[in-house]
Order: sequence, then structure tokens, then C-alpha cells
Amino acid sequence: MDKAQQDALKKAAGIEAAKLVEDGMIAGLGTGSTVRFLVDELGRRVQEEGLRFTGVTTSRRTQEQAEGYGITIVDVDDVDRIDVTIDGADEVDRNFNGIKGGGAALLWEKIVATNSDKIVWIVDESKVVDTIGAFPLPVEVIPFGAGHVIKRFEDRGYKPVLRKTADGKEVRTDENNFVVDLHLGRIDHPQDLAEDLINTVGVVEHGLFLNMVDTVIIGDPHGPRILS
Ligand code: 5RP
Repeated sequence: MDKAQQDALKKAAGIEAAKLVEDGMIAGLGTGSTVRFLVDELGRRVQEEGLRFTGVTTSRRTQEQAEGYGITIVDVDDVDRIDVTIDGADEVDRNFNGIKGGGAALLWEKIVATNSDKIVWIVDESKVVDTIGAFPLPVEVIPFGAGHVIKRFEDRGYKPVLRKTADGKEVRTDENNFVVDLHLGRIDHPQDLAEDLINTVGVVEHGLFLNMVDTVIIGDPHGPRILS
């Protein structure tokens, strides 16, 4: 699949998911290229159809895009619950276990997801896999002592790589932390791995989202498919 085809599928999933946002709702808005299509469609509905909803965003990038359309964005602590959160994913298996954080927003994404009544992922069909792990698993790490955390991951055979920008600087999350990508190849025991990672001092959060999502909307050349 080339990039144009993949973008067409991402867009179709985003447009389908935008239908889930109704007047008066509080909607969590994820991060990434698929979510950009979702926010474009929501922005269109706000401007052309008079849709009124409040958004809680999972990154400053999404906040900027949404506010550009006149969508009201509030802090996650300003709401009791979020009605529905729509986000992208890097991989998802048939048990709804997934990897997120390719866009370095995993921490805010997990916080917003945890406070949502319903979680929907929008993906193109290439993201649906039998076993997760081919996509490097992002882990958000505090900069202080990150070298030791990386060494520990190496000792455990996790093949860690500190994420850098094209000009060689460490990538920083919206919380100013680092991202370490684990090149695992496949993850056969995601629950065990999740526990090991979260119990490592210096790790803030990891990109394993296990059985959290309610619905996956897959952009498919024959039209969006909905799994729930
Ligand atoms: C950002 C994420 C994204 O949702 C994930 O990386 C998918 O991105 P894209 O829609 O660009 O493929 O987890 O942290």
C-alpha cells in the first residue's frame, strides 16, 4: 500500500468516527495523522453544521488543530468524564491489545483514555495484526537517569533505542520526557511485559494499551469496517 492509499483509508476511518460525536458531548481527541483527518471532519461539522461539543486533547498538536476550527478545548481535569475518545493506534490485534505512542503522545493518550466512557481507535487496515510487537514499543522515560533505564532494558533483551529527531536531538514528549522504543519483534505476553515496564523506576508510561478499546474502526478499501 502506498502512502496515498494509506491516507485515503485513514481519512475514511476518521470521517466515520466523527459521526460518533454529538451535540453537547465531551470528546477526547487523540494524536497522529489519522486523528488529523478526524479533527478536520469535526471542524467541518462545527463550521458547516453548527455541531457544538467540547474537546479534551491528548497533545498540544491536536489542541492547536482543533482550536483552529473554533472547537472548545478544556483540560482533562476540567471534566468529570469524557463521553468518547477517538484515537489512532500503531498496531492492534484481534483481542484489542494495541501499541500506541508512535507520535510520542502515549502518556496523555492513556490518561485521557482511562477517563473515558468509550474508547474508539481509527486505523488503516495495515495496523491490524495477529501478534503485536513488530512496531517498536514506545516507553516514556524521565530524562534523569534515562541511560540506566536503557541499560536495564538492554540487559532484559528489549533492544531499546532512544528516539531522536532528524537533527539528532532527543525527542521530548509534551511532559518533556524522553521516548525509548523497544524493538521486540513480537510480544507474546503483553500483560507480563506491561507489568515489568511500569515497575521499572524511571518509566512514566508505556505504549501497551491492553484491552482498553471498545471499538476499532478500520479504513478498508471496501469501506470502513467496525469491530467491537
Ligand atoms: C501517537 C499515537 C498515534 O495514535 C499512533 O502513532 C498512530 O498514528 P498515525 O495515525 O499517524 O498512524 O499513538 O502517540
